[in-house]
Amino acid sequence: MIDRYLDRGTMYALDDHGVKAICVVTDEGDGILEIKNIATHPDYQRKGYGRALIQFLIDTYKDTYRILQAGTGDSPLTVPFYERCGFKRTHIIKNFFIDHYDHPIYEGGIQLIDMVYLQLPLQE
Ligand SMILES: CC(C)(COP(=O)(O)OP(=O)(O)OC[C@H]1O[C@@H](n2cnc3c(N)ncnc32)[C@H](O)[C@@H]1OP(=O)(O)O)[C@@H](O)C(=O)NCCC(=O)NCCS
Repeated sequence: MIDRYLDRGTMYALDDHGVKAICVVTDEGDGILEIKNIATHPDYQRKGYGRALIQFLIDTYKDTYRILQAGTGDSPLTVPFYERCGFKRTHIIKNFFIDHYDHPIYEGGIQLIDMVYLQLPLQE
């Protein structure tokens, strides 16, 4: 799944005395920039690094894209992060994690089934 987007994505690493968080974004057309992946080193989560990366993306792309979008499993570990950063749920792709992976994926004790999309407007 990652190979499908890695060579068309742009990767950023947040360096604060060593890499603390990374993300990969792709151009999805129609003014939509999608966060394909975002991760903070497990030892440094909940310290603001993920939010700092989101703010970096907003500042960098606000003049060239309409919408910052993220797709994620309906997980208690990721959806609240995006919501705290100002994203709103927009749509889902039903059974995405069943249809695209050959094994069940669990996160925070919950099986991921649908892909949840969240968006943040970059322009007024
Ligand atoms: C999701 C992830 C990137 C968040 O990064 P982070 O650096 O820990 O996030 P921050 O410290 O910047 O948190 C920003 C806000 O989100 C909130 N938040 C982060 N994780 C949360 C969670 N699991 N539940 C509730 N709120 C959460 C923080 O409390 C903070 O809110 P506040 O500033 O209003 O108090 C990180 O947990 C991670 O790497 N997870 C594993 C990889 C992953 O699941 N990536 C997403 C898939 S695309």
